[in-house]
Amino acid sequence: MHIELTVNGELRSADVEPMTRLIDIIRNDLRLTGTKEGCGEGECGACSVIMDGRLVTSCLVPAIQAAGSSITTIEGIGTPERPSDLQVIFNEEGAIHCGFCTPGMIVAAHSLLERNPEPNDDEIRRELSGNICRCTGYGSICGAVARAASEGYGHRIEPAANLCKSRSPVFTEDEAGRYFAPKTLDEALGILNDHPGLLILSGCTDILVDTRSGRTTADRAIDIFGIPELHRIYKGDDGYVHIGGSVTNDELDNSPLINELLPALAYCARRCGGPAIQNRATVGGNLCTASGAGDLPVVLLAFDALVFLAGADGTTRMRTEDFVTGYRQTTLKPHQIVQEILIPLPAPGSRQAFFKRGSRKALTLSRVSLASYLELEQNRVRVLRFAAGSMSPIPRRLKRTEEALTGKTFDAALIERAGDLAAEEISPRKQTAYRKKITGNLVRRFFEEIVSKGS
Ligand code: FES
Ligand code: FES
Repeated sequence: MHIELTVNGELRSADVEPMTRLIDIIRNDLRLTGTKEGCGEGECGACSVIMDGRLVTSCLVPAIQAAGSSITTIEGIGTPERPSDLQVIFNEEGAIHCGFCTPGMIVAAHSLLERNPEPNDDEIRRELSGNICRCTGYGSICGAVARAASEGYGHRIEPAANLCKSRSPVFTEDEAGRYFAPKTLDEALGILNDHPGLLILSGCTDILVDTRSGRTTADRAIDIFGIPELHRIYKGDDGYVHIGGSVTNDELDNSPLINELLPALAYCARRCGGPAIQNRATVGGNLCTASGAGDLPVVLLAFDALVFLAGADGTTRMRTEDFVTGYRQTTLKPHQIVQEILIPLPAPGSRQAFFKRGSRKALTLSRVSLASYLELEQNRVRVLRFAAGSMSPIPRRLKRTEEALTGKTFDAALIERAGDLAAEEISPRKQTAYRKKITGNLVRRFFEEIVSKGS
């Protein structure tokens, strides 16, 4: 496969396989070795680069998705001979520790300051949450970014150019017929109809890890991440909020509509991984991965969301709990893609929440997660839905708890009983006592917050 890239303002090209990782192109083909490889799984941030204005972990981007993009690596920010002001400040503030993680941190900081030249402390910490520093020097690192901001670094950043003439990869004879990069939904559905069973590439936050470990093979694949129709978020006149299958966590988090109507979903999206992962992870991918630890499906269950599937032979919709049937198992057919997720518009005055507990605050995998949706009518529970994640092979609704409380008066006794029922209903295989206790507490907290804010 032949691709063009604009790297640090220069037009470059590479002949690589479609699933070659961007980090390997950068380091091996382009010999830009400032970008480092740490974990290789999207968890450390050492390989961070900016792709088309967004921070990404280059160990998780396949070449087929990098074609025609504009990439900024650490060398494009500054060199030992001509360091940028940001690098000088990192040095002066003692923010360079082991050095291996530093390029990724500087790229992340540059990306933040380019989009938001005057971030507050929380925004700085959040942007760097995907960059692991095992020597725990975050104080000086965040301090350096704050100083760079106060000295106007972000206001002086020139937007990265893109000199590529084409965004399309040129496949070799052997690859044509096995790899596809359609530009429209209709084109994608036609390809899937003619070549059922292609591996579907969207945000790719899991696939490159899975192919390296041998869990997945990617010798036939279709890239749907760049299809504009799959990134739409809108309120339909059918009573649903529509969310395209390739909408990313970042797009959810920054959508005014999602923040207004479905704040629990926006909050959940922002609590999954660091910014580089949030820029790539998609709602459809999160559903299709069908892992017990996925967070977005927990919220979709609590909202009783529908999954809208498209194929060349037509469309079909089903409830989320019927779509995800088991660990890494869904009802998606080989010729289908997740076109949209449909979430019923929340009733006026309804309450919703998402809670997550893990081993640490940033970047953590959930040990316990809980999403809740409640409608009250004259102080009685009219509609109640709870969904819990990380307890079983896939997230589950707590239907016994819901049924026992629906129609009951909303009072202190109900809150206490709700916690007990939820703790009783879940059956985690590990850390049983801890998870039962936390789940019960989170259910009580959901109701107590309603009381404290006024029902
Ligand atoms: Fe760790 Fe890519 S090498 S995130
Ligand atoms: Fe590498 Fe802290 S900078 S471990």
